[in-house]
Amino acid sequence: MKLRKKLIEVALPLEAINIASAREKSIRHGHPSTLHLWWARRPLAAARAVIFAQMVDDPSAWPDLFPTVKAQEKERKRLFKIIEDLVLWENTTNERVLEAARQEIWQSWRRTCAENADHPRAKQLFNRNKLPAFHDPFAGGGALPLEAQRLGLESHASDLNPVAVLINKAMIEIPPKFADRPPVNPEARSKKDLIAREWKGAQGLAEDVRYYGKWMHDEAERRIGHLYPKVEITAEMAIERPDLKSCVGKRLTVIAWLWARTVKSPNPAYADVDVPLASTFILSSKAGKEAFIEPVVKGRNYTFAVHLGKPHQTDSAINGTKLSGVGADFRCLVSGVPISADYIRAEGKTGRIGERMIAIVAEGERGRVYLPPTPEQESAAECASPVWKPEVEFAQQALGFRVGNYGMSMWSHLFTPRQLVVLNTLSDLVGEGRAIVAKDTQACRDADDSSAYCDAVVTYLGFLISQVANHSASVCGWNNANTQMRSVFARQAISMVWDYAESNPFSDSSGSYNNLYERQVKGFTALGFGPCGFASQCDANQQNISSEKVVSTDPPYFDNIGYADLSDFFYVWLRRAFRNIYPSLFTTLAVPKAEELVATPFRHGGKEAAGNFFLSGMTQAMHRIAENSHEAFPVSVFYAFKQAEEDSGEGQTSTGWETFIGALITAGFSVCGTWPMRTEKPGRTRENDANALASSIVLVCRKRPVNALAATRREFVQALEAELAPALRNLQEGNIAPVDLAQAAIGPGMAVYTRYAKVLDAEGNALTVKQALALINEKLDTVLAEQEGDFDADTRWALAWFEQSGFAEGEYGVAETLSKAKNTSVQGMVDTGAVKSGAGKVRLLRPEELPADWAPEANARLTEWEIVHQLIRALNTGGEMGAAELVAKLGSRADTARELAYRLYVLCERKKRAQEALAYNALVQSWPEIQRLASEAESRPAQPQQTSMFN
Ligand SMILES: C[S@@+](CC[C@H](N)C(=O)[O-])C[C@H]1O[C@@H](n2cnc3c(N)ncnc32)[C@H](O)[C@@H]1O
Repeated sequence: MKLRKKLIEVALPLEAINIASAREKSIRHGHPSTLHLWWARRPLAAARAVIFAQMVDDPSAWPDLFPTVKAQEKERKRLFKIIEDLVLWENTTNERVLEAARQEIWQSWRRTCAENADHPRAKQLFNRNKLPAFHDPFAGGGALPLEAQRLGLESHASDLNPVAVLINKAMIEIPPKFADRPPVNPEARSKKDLIAREWKGAQGLAEDVRYYGKWMHDEAERRIGHLYPKVEITAEMAIERPDLKSCVGKRLTVIAWLWARTVKSPNPAYADVDVPLASTFILSSKAGKEAFIEPVVKGRNYTFAVHLGKPHQTDSAINGTKLSGVGADFRCLVSGVPISADYIRAEGKTGRIGERMIAIVAEGERGRVYLPPTPEQESAAECASPVWKPEVEFAQQALGFRVGNYGMSMWSHLFTPRQLVVLNTLSDLVGEGRAIVAKDTQACRDADDSSAYCDAVVTYLGFLISQVANHSASVCGWNNANTQMRSVFARQAISMVWDYAESNPFSDSSGSYNNLYERQVKGFTALGFGPCGFASQCDANQQNISSEKVVSTDPPYFDNIGYADLSDFFYVWLRRAFRNIYPSLFTTLAVPKAEELVATPFRHGGKEAAGNFFLSGMTQAMHRIAENSHEAFPVSVFYAFKQAEEDSGEGQTSTGWETFIGALITAGFSVCGTWPMRTEKPGRTRENDANALASSIVLVCRKRPVNALAATRREFVQALEAELAPALRNLQEGNIAPVDLAQAAIGPGMAVYTRYAKVLDAEGNALTVKQALALINEKLDTVLAEQEGDFDADTRWALAWFEQSGFAEGEYGVAETLSKAKNTSVQGMVDTGAVKSGAGKVRLLRPEELPADWAPEANARLTEWEIVHQLIRALNTGGEMGAAELVAKLGSRADTARELAYRLYVLCERKKRAQEALAYNALVQSWPEIQRLASEAESRPAQPQQTSMFN
């Protein structure tokens, strides 16, 4: 087979991908992720870019077409532009942009087919009229299979987890089956304008989900709406409550009921009193809309009052009855004695934890109103009686499960009776809804696929049960900062919530059925409608689906997320609704767990055994991919990168990272690219800046030839020295952010290491991945240092000085000695305007100290040092436009300055000078825009000078 390098093996426009990925994480409307929750989804932008770059040739692979480095760079820039357009959220369904990308994929594919026309299996492997299919064996929420389909590939998704399989059916299997078909619901059919319109892609399906979803809501409300009564505002309630005056006599819709769990007071004198475990009494901390609960204790009894404004006793309001910020230590509301965490646990284990309503949040005329509990509202909750409960046990030691300590052991324990009633009702309605869809379908469709269409519609209706469950469990909190419900999976865990919020599914606020269903229907708009898709349940260790397919995948990362344990939360409900529709997916009582490739200590007999299970399983799964996937394409693997791994205390390498690379190599892969990507939403504010580290690394792998030779350490180092420098230039040409350079440079280094069967040291021992990584990092440093040769003498002096002193003052004598070594002089440096000297001291000027009226054209001793720092000054004061004006004057000198910015970044990072590193990183990141503006300025005709009338 003749193989050519793909773009992803050489360069990627990382910054564009990263910016689009970060932006996408905050998109809540119109994103397919609103169909059903899944943990740690990769952004569609990153998935799309990676698959595209995996399928198109790198220009260097075709020297006949692109004979010079310049021609290759130009062509690469053209491909980058396609990716830059492709990753924008607005272009997710932009056919013009997608078609341009698809054409590019086809062009590369046809070249590959032509070249391999004489391959013995050419007919099977190189059909120029059919693109190879795609497979992701760890499909999860389906980001990669969906994007492969969007790019024109037949897409296969498999996962061990039935919930993930169902999500992938909804994402890639169902929509193309019913693409471009009109809806079947009677409302749409009765409206002439709706009948006449063209239904594109999944629009018809979405319209039916909207219609039957509304039917499901209305029917559920008709059946159980009485359990969710409105709250009447009486004149008495409005005393001292100006916000309620205009509502007197009105019945307001409740948004949520707030409850506190209770235990019997540990004080023997009050042993029969149930006291609340409230972690706060603040209802709203929104500026100008503050509200709080005041517990009113009378002897052995207590009630709750609600007040507007900020509380006087701030501490007790903020902390509720909790004694400290963390843990489960409370105080007894009636007697004041402490309630220890052990006591609460013991009460929980004997089933003696109860609950008490502490406030009501309702929809007022001008926003939310907060009310004390009323007897009518309390009894409405009490009279709910569910016909069925998910009495399925969960593993109490599962990753991230913290509720078992308090006596919860079954999924049914996570819901109030009223919540159980609503989820039961919805799952009954899925079955009943199917019969209605069937009737409507038969009225207007050929009977052949009517059954499949009914299953399709109700799959999405069933997802609404999951959505409602995620917002209707007794572990949902109340977020008093934004006065909204917190869903169960606001975190990737099931945490104990002492004061929980029970939402009203029939209100229209966030977390209600209507709110969730409208978001779900919007999620259809970004589904692809390309070639067919297939979703199946399969263990990645056993699968043959990858055979002759392009593979991109995102396996679980060690012990980050216990998907199987978490997903039972949804599975137990989905099973009730879907057992007859998807019998093979829902045979077991709970999600299969034993084969899940997650290092779960309690399941595999301790930490070490769990680690071994993960490693051997992952190696086997990767081996299957290496053996089966289409060899014309590299495989890409997303590896979730933990920030903590950066500093393992052993230099530049880290254990998890190195173990994973080791698994890939043992599986028969060679690693030829490593692309750091920021695929997770920045959480902490520190991560919001452009300097944040990558959250995942895309590893690009090729199957290692069976006849690969062994090499000596010396040969390995020589190859590294020869290949790292040009690879680094490619990365810099691609404007990689300095913060990502070191990670990305591992790719070409690893490509050299994994090309050999093994690398042997002088004693004949094989070099480990860890040793290889350390060597690669060492060489990277050398290559970057060698780039210093491109800089002028003054800059080389400034670099050396900066390395030791930064912008701080140092001794004149030391500076003078250093300047001799660099063939310059301190006075010369002072003359450049970048250095200050006096009273025996010398220091480099910070960008903000440099003259604003700097004119490079008038500067007889122009240095790269000055250029970089003047550009930073201009960027900080005048933005990209300001910097562009300077670049326009500097011409090609500016390019060397960018190299210096990379060097300075690496230096600052090593010296832990975060603030300065940020500035150099920002300059490189703005570079493409600065250059664009500069060339615009250059090509603009000079403005005619306005002369005065009398001149
Ligand atoms: C990181 S997630 C994939 C996320 C996905 N890329 C997305 O964007 O939503 C990893 C997936 O691997 C699945 N998984 C774990 N062990 C597996 C196994 N042995 N075979 C197949 N899938 C497995 C989990 O169920 C989970 O969905």
